[in-house]
Amino acid sequence: MMSRVLVTGAAGFIGSHLVDALLGRGVRVVGLDRRRVGEHALADENLAQAVVSPLFTPYCLDLAVDQLDDVVAGCDTVFHLAARPGVRPSWSREFSTTPRPTCSAHTGCWRPAPARGCAG
Ligand SMILES: NC(=O)c1ccc[n+]([C@@H]2O[C@H](COP(=O)([O-])OP(=O)(O)OC[C@H]3O[C@@H](n4cnc5c(N)ncnc54)[C@H](O)[C@@H]3O)[C@@H](O)[C@H]2O)c1
Repeated sequence: MMSRVLVTGAAGFIGSHLVDALLGRGVRVVGLDRRRVGEHALADENLAQAVVSPLFTPYCLDLAVDQLDDVVAGCDTVFHLAARPGVRPSWSREFSTTPRPTCSAHTGCWRPAPARGCAG
């Protein structure tokens, strides 16, 4: 039973739908994205339902650089969806920039999780 869930990439296409689905089931959701609600049109659009829910806590952070310990704290499940989607862009013109942020994001996300008894 999930009681408090961290969703990375919460302002994205899949992340925002997952956030809405979890909130609809009464789950408390921490939504992390580098797109800030109130400053990014797509984040505003995708999280329009979520931001009015008392169960939703948004965080504007970059997984590749920011510390996540405080965000992960108290979460028992992590859905890690923050990424550069798309096979062609990530393996062609953005190849030189994609792997490092993606790997850093994974490391930053998972490192604090086991220490806090959090499932991936
Ligand atoms: N959309 C699809 O049809 C589809 C299909 C298969 C797999 N996927 C995978 O699912 C994942 C999410 O896809 P999506 O379509 O929701 O993408 P999306 O671009 O809509 O959402 C990704 C979100 O991650 C955030 N993000 C990226 N890097 C970040 C970082 N370093 N720190 C914080 N936030 C960061 C972006 O701001 C964005 O809001 C990707 O890994 C993608 O490859 C998507």
